[in-house]
Amino acid sequence: MSDSEKKEITRDDANNLDRTLRPQTWEEYIGQSKTKENLRILLTAAKERGHAAEHILLYGPPGLGKTTLANLVSKTLGTNMKVTSGPAIERVGDLAAILTNLSPGDVLFIDEIHRLSKSIEEVLYPAMESGVLDIIIGKGPSARTVQLELPPFTMVAATTRISLLSSPLRSRFSGGTFRLDFYTDDEIATILKRSAELLGVDASSSALDQISKRCRATPRTANYLLKRCRDLAQLENVEIDNEIINRTFELLEIDSIGLGKTDRAVLEIIINKFNGGPVGLNTIAAATGEEPSTIEDVIEPYLIRHGLLERTPRGRVSTHTAVSHIEN
Ligand code: ADE
Repeated sequence: MSDSEKKEITRDDANNLDRTLRPQTWEEYIGQSKTKENLRILLTAAKERGHAAEHILLYGPPGLGKTTLANLVSKTLGTNMKVTSGPAIERVGDLAAILTNLSPGDVLFIDEIHRLSKSIEEVLYPAMESGVLDIIIGKGPSARTVQLELPPFTMVAATTRISLLSSPLRSRFSGGTFRLDFYTDDEIATILKRSAELLGVDASSSALDQISKRCRATPRTANYLLKRCRDLAQLENVEIDNEIINRTFELLEIDSIGLGKTDRAVLEIIINKFNGGPVGLNTIAAATGEEPSTIEDVIEPYLIRHGLLERTPRGRVSTHTAVSHIEN
């Protein structure tokens, strides 16, 4: 690129989906209506009483808006949100530092809570239940426990794997446990319309409908696809129309129902190598080169919801729908 072609490079806020496209109000947050309603009642009532809201657990496949909901929770309560995650809390001291630095009423968001270690979980129980932190100081016979009183806080935790949470931990979420569902095509189309406006891109409504049908019913994927379509449309100096959409999907190897290469690889292995199954998760993982947890958390939920795959006690089985999709 010559000097005259060089442009000043600025931060592309749109690159950070989290900041720009994330809904800032309950009205902007589309779908999940029961969860929204329950949360709104819980939070408004707690706020009216002048108490910290009770702890909340959100679960469901990735990209459905768990972090966004946590942000709305703290906005509604009018308090700050501190963000951490299961794998980031390695030692009891890490958790103690986070908890003791909270201000009264703050929201503590713990993403991937299923990855907390047992020893941390045990420190968390009394913190969630009674607002105290039991810390052991010293070792051996001279070790003693000190109890620190914590400021009242609301924990919002998120997980893609509710089944990995121990029942004592689950029972501490006294405010409720909410499952986020996949979105309908119409809901995604509404989300995309707003995203297109925020990104300042021209897109026909039929083009947005096309993205809605191929985003695995997931807002994060829908916004990602919209941005990739925008890139191509910009290079070609055209608006996002059906042709741009089709070419983008071809480039990204996304098929007519939104399956990507890995989705199809999983189905092809079951159908072609194992005669439709049942096949164990680890075998599928080894054959595709993906982690078993990625297959289970990211790939399978949509295949199951789309009626392409079933989980049975003996392993994964493909459906007739999957066979006719893969064969065509
Ligand atoms: N982005 C992610 N989740 C969303 C939702 N539920 N509504 C609007 N935009 C979103």
